Amino acid sequence: MLQETIARVRAEIEAADLATAEQLDQFRIAYTGRKGQLADLFDQLKTVEPTDRRAVGQELNQLKQLAQARFEERQQQLEAGAANAPADPTFDYTLPPVPQALGTRHPLSLVREEIVRILARIGFNVAEGPEIEDDWHNFTALNFPENHPARDMQDTFFVKSGGADSAEAKAPASYLLRTHTSPVQVRVMQAQQPPIRSIMPGRVYRNEAISARAHMMFHQVEALFIDENVSFADLKQTVYYFVQELFGDDVQVRFRPSFFPFTEPSAEIDITCLICKGAGCNICKGTGWVEIGGAGMVDPAVLEQSGIDPERYSGYAWGMGIERITMLKYQIKDLRLFTENDTRFLRQFESLL
Ligand code: PHE
Repeated sequence: MLQETIARVRAEIEAADLATAEQLDQFRIAYTGRKGQLADLFDQLKTVEPTDRRAVGQELNQLKQLAQARFEERQQQLEAGAANAPADPTFDYTLPPVPQALGTRHPLSLVREEIVRILARIGFNVAEGPEIEDDWHNFTALNFPENHPARDMQDTFFVKSGGADSAEAKAPASYLLRTHTSPVQVRVMQAQQPPIRSIMPGRVYRNEAISARAHMMFHQVEALFIDENVSFADLKQTVYYFVQELFGDDVQVRFRPSFFPFTEPSAEIDITCLICKGAGCNICKGTGWVEIGGAGMVDPAVLEQSGIDPERYSGYAWGMGIERITMLKYQIKDLRLFTENDTRFLRQFESLL
């Protein structure tokens, strides 16, 4: 009698239609679940004659295995199928997509990458250094005299270690937020002998009141080239190439004599005003020229401090403000826009990608 039921249930299990997840679930409830038919049949095993019980028990076990095998196989198929199932046939593919609010590249990043690309084409690699710098790399190794006004609290953010009352905090600070990217020159020269051909983009800090034209945090990129027989002519040629690649062929460059403690001779680099094309306007204060950076031949004393033989090698260095270049390139009138994160401003650079 029980054997008959077993045979019927076996036929049902074998024939069960498990096309959908719902049917599979019903199958589980009906057969293999705790209150399913198989559990019921196991309960009835005690009504079987003791002599037959073993055989019937075996038969039931086989049936249970069959049911479980069918269930598991189909469950795996359904799960695998769900991952690449044909999409919902009622879905309207002509619906416009929900726009994704993707961010855009920051204009300073775009310009920095452009600068890196232009100089990489003529063999410059990128070097980096710390933003919290020591006094030696930021000033001393770059030939700044001990009493140079740039070391003054007016310009430099000094960093004190330890608590406010600690001995370190009371001692003269020897750490600071770097005021320019030139200390990275020193680090590169300490780490490597010529030929050196590196650019060093990065953030710098100066204790300035924030306004349309000044900020306490901005970006520079430095270029350093050291080898045998490097001359000022190499510097000029590289700057000409760079300016024409970045701003276009019709932009002119001029070098104005200047002074930096770590270069000799030194110059400031001006380009023709991009707004008035040299005619004179309020951006260039009527001169037709705007400054983009400083440059010069690395002072032999700086080479020597950094472990490079000034008798054998010479080199040039040049540094520019990335904000300044970005403002000129895209005619941005207020420095504060770069840090305000106003998406109406930032979105305008999307198309430059
Ligand atoms: N470090 C200088 C500055 O911040 C710029 C500079 C770099 C000048 C390299 C000469 C050579 O003003």
